[in-house]
Amino acid sequence: MRLTRTSDLWWKDAVVYCLDVETYQDSDGDGCGDFAGLTQRIDHLDRLGVTCVWLMPFYPTRERDDGYDITDFYGVDPRLGTLGDFTEFVRTARDRGIRVIADLVVNHTSEHHPWFEDARSSRDAAHRDWYVWRDEPPEDGPKDIVFPDAETSVWEYDERTEQYYMHRFYKQQPDLNVANPEVRDEIARIMGFWTQLGLSGFRVDAVPFLLETDGQPDQLPDPHEYLADLRAFLGRRDGEAILLGEVNLPYEDTARFFGEPGTSRGDELTMCFDFIGMQRMYLSMARGDATPLARALRERPEPPRDAHWATFVRNHDELTLDKLSDDERAEVFAAFGPEKDMQLYDRGLRRRLPPMVDGDRRRTELAYSLLFTLPGTPVLFYGEEIGMGENLAAEGRQAVRTPMQWTGDDKAGFSTADPADYPNPLVEGEFGPARVNVHDQRQDAGSQLAVLRRLVESYRESPELSWGAHEILPAGDDAVLAHLATTGDGAVLALHNFAGHGVEVETESPRLSGGTLLTDLLGENDVTVGEGGKVRAELEPYGYRWLRVSTPLDDPARATAD
Ligand code: NOJ
Repeated sequence: MRLTRTSDLWWKDAVVYCLDVETYQDSDGDGCGDFAGLTQRIDHLDRLGVTCVWLMPFYPTRERDDGYDITDFYGVDPRLGTLGDFTEFVRTARDRGIRVIADLVVNHTSEHHPWFEDARSSRDAAHRDWYVWRDEPPEDGPKDIVFPDAETSVWEYDERTEQYYMHRFYKQQPDLNVANPEVRDEIARIMGFWTQLGLSGFRVDAVPFLLETDGQPDQLPDPHEYLADLRAFLGRRDGEAILLGEVNLPYEDTARFFGEPGTSRGDELTMCFDFIGMQRMYLSMARGDATPLARALRERPEPPRDAHWATFVRNHDELTLDKLSDDERAEVFAAFGPEKDMQLYDRGLRRRLPPMVDGDRRRTELAYSLLFTLPGTPVLFYGEEIGMGENLAAEGRQAVRTPMQWTGDDKAGFSTADPADYPNPLVEGEFGPARVNVHDQRQDAGSQLAVLRRLVESYRESPELSWGAHEILPAGDDAVLAHLATTGDGAVLALHNFAGHGVEVETESPRLSGGTLLTDLLGENDVTVGEGGKVRAELEPYGYRWLRVSTPLDDPARATAD
């Protein structure tokens, strides 16, 4: 029997889709996306096969950091609608079998949050200890600056109370003091509030920063124990809710954030983004050589028990390359973003994939085929399904946060307002709405949207990919990544060619027995396994294939004919 899908661990074979309500769909013609507009677009998400929407921050904000500077954790920014609109969206999504998670941004608040306004009013204020204050920036505190374009220190002097407060991000985002039990209680209340309103968990922002208390007046006795407490609390409120964490550290350090089941640290994050795999994938693409990605997959620790990695091609920030060596980063810059304006903070790219590869569909498809076959839960960023590009005229990271392109007219079907009133400018030129939009691609069986839908469908039909054990196989050519996903009773062999020329793949696995038929899940070129588990297959330039060990369930006609 094949593994039957169980929704208890729904995140293991989820298709997560990240979007910003502000740039997705406007319903009232004011030029700003809103919850009512998003709700109208639910069928697009459903047709694509999305099973979980991740909402970027939609809370009241001063927009210093695109919503990651929150002024009220318990509300909806009035530009985006009301709490009522939010719950209508969650309910509609659930009706289509789509869960909703949202950013939990509790490392910091906006400087305009009433807690901080109170905190900075006097040293004796009720909320003073909700933030981190020092007379002088300490020697032993954090030194690395996340936004080097705007900041030179993580400490900012506050004139009125003559002390410094800590901020890991912009100075307008003071860090909360999690060592303070009142703050921890409040964080739990925030999580409880949104789960009560229907969220199925959170994408936890900046997890290592949230937990770090080095150089601060008060310490968390054990940060991991605190994270395990948060997870346990969430589990008590809603047994299916998840924590998907942003942890961009070396593999061994990131893996600690999954927790150690069976110890006092228990379960921590349900999923962690695989930043290293993502970066090495780009290096592999730049070199036409699968080796860097294969190495990442071999080095990547297995998550404990029910935890999972979350894989992605692009997220909403700069495409960070911070975990590559300087030379490797330079290679990726040279291949995919040679101009200074395409780069950000010296560590990443503010581009989307299609323009990076000059619109070469073979290369974009290769990346998405990897996304849906590599071990881990795939996370899409809105617009990837149609191959949107970026607008480098937009500031910083906003380049990739342009309005969703629904139609080919000059308003992109995003709003009836004048595009000059949109939160970010539309993409222009080759990847702009006239050439890249949902409406046209729905009519076109060969479009990127059609291909993505097919990949999502095949991924959802192949539990081996989401539940199975993965192993990298020899491929006979460095350009090729061959990996096999196996469950007790099934196997899928995935082949990816990073080179711009065709290759003949020769791979083998003792798990494949001679004579077994491998069904081509995306085409019509089935393959039969040779003696000793050897498989030979051809791959087009940048080609990919998904080959699955057939069972009677796949093709009853074939089974009875045998
Ligand atoms: C990570 C988010 O992805 C990013 O957009 C934001 O600037 C920082 N955390 C601060 O919240």
